[in-house]
Amino acid sequence: MALLNENYLKLKAGYLFPEIGRRVKAFTEANPTAAARLIRCGIGDVTEPLPPAVIAALHRAVDEMGQRSTFRGYGPEQGYDFLRSAIAQNDYRAHGMDIADDEIFVSDGSKCDCGAILDILGDRNRIAISDPVYPVYVDTNVMVGHTGACDPSGAYAGLVYLPCTPSNGFIPEPPSEAVDVVYLCSPNNPTGAAATRPQLEAWVDYALRHKAILLFDAAYEAYITEPGVPHSIYEIPGARECAIEFRSFSKNGGFTGTRCAFTVVPKSLKAFSSTGEALPLHPLWSRRMTTKFNGVPYLVQRAAEALYSPEGKAQVRGLIEHYLGNAAVLVAGARAAGLTVYGGVNAPYIWVATPSGVTSWQAFDRILNDANVVITPGSGFGSKGEGYFRVSAFNSRANAEEVSRRLQLLKW
Ligand code: MLT
Repeated sequence: MALLNENYLKLKAGYLFPEIGRRVKAFTEANPTAAARLIRCGIGDVTEPLPPAVIAALHRAVDEMGQRSTFRGYGPEQGYDFLRSAIAQNDYRAHGMDIADDEIFVSDGSKCDCGAILDILGDRNRIAISDPVYPVYVDTNVMVGHTGACDPSGAYAGLVYLPCTPSNGFIPEPPSEAVDVVYLCSPNNPTGAAATRPQLEAWVDYALRHKAILLFDAAYEAYITEPGVPHSIYEIPGARECAIEFRSFSKNGGFTGTRCAFTVVPKSLKAFSSTGEALPLHPLWSRRMTTKFNGVPYLVQRAAEALYSPEGKAQVRGLIEHYLGNAAVLVAGARAAGLTVYGGVNAPYIWVATPSGVTSWQAFDRILNDANVVITPGSGFGSKGEGYFRVSAFNSRANAEEVSRRLQLLKW
């Protein structure tokens, strides 16, 4: 008799975005006229085409794959040297951070890596997670058995939740108790808040004191506009000893469908065996990748490399400015509609308080039915997300302007 992984039975009904997809499908099937004017600002999926530098690199790489002399089969599982080097040089060393090429591990996505990282961590760690939070951090811990059951508010027993509210600017504070692993996401999905240097210094100090590890998700780093906001946890002294950083080409280069990301595991980062011996995590992650992963396609790694060329960098800047321009339009529209709005300055998400007495899912239904716009209900990101909704700025400018207009027409 084959047994199943009962941890999966603890998961809430569905992963948030498929659940939204299911509701939107039901709505559009029942309302074909409304379906034609539907605008999707739910999942943070890019809408603009790949930058020309990427397309050119893809064409060149396709031609190489068609010639015996330049054809490539299996590549290095950790990523080709040309890409690891371009990342380490451009994203880290050029900004004064001491990150070696072989501390970069190229992958097919930060979502995948955020889940996979649990393979190399022990199963008795006390885990702290922001609330609201990107649901992947929670669900992957549930799947591997790091939690108990889910209570009616959606909180899982065994996790330490760090409330993120207007009173702390949606940036979690280090808890008074000791935890071993902390997920941080800055700029933040879903709230759009970005941690300041003193806030990240406090986290690095906490992690070093408690021998804890910070899992730092910087997928939205390219959206930082405010001077002084750190782009990487490694800008903070001591972070090489306590932090793993996840980054992605999805939201800067538009790679959500092309798939390429990377994780930084410094060689100086250690965790403890059950006998208390401090051991480096770098060889474990390398071992994990070589065993469970076959690497990102050569074509895609050449495409990612092109994002670091002078023209690639300029084209990425253009994409970011486009989406941040949308965010500004959405912020202005939601404010003109009388709503309280956060985010949208260092992130492609705006985080909106629902009108008094309206729950997140009620807001979702109202905005879907009356404005024919898909947003993401804040409660899908955790109990402290109740009373909010997230609007994604990934769209055409015309759609952002239309959403802004429709929000102002809504009667609550
Ligand atoms: C989101 O909408 O929160 C993101 O697109 C999800 C992701 O990046 O996986």
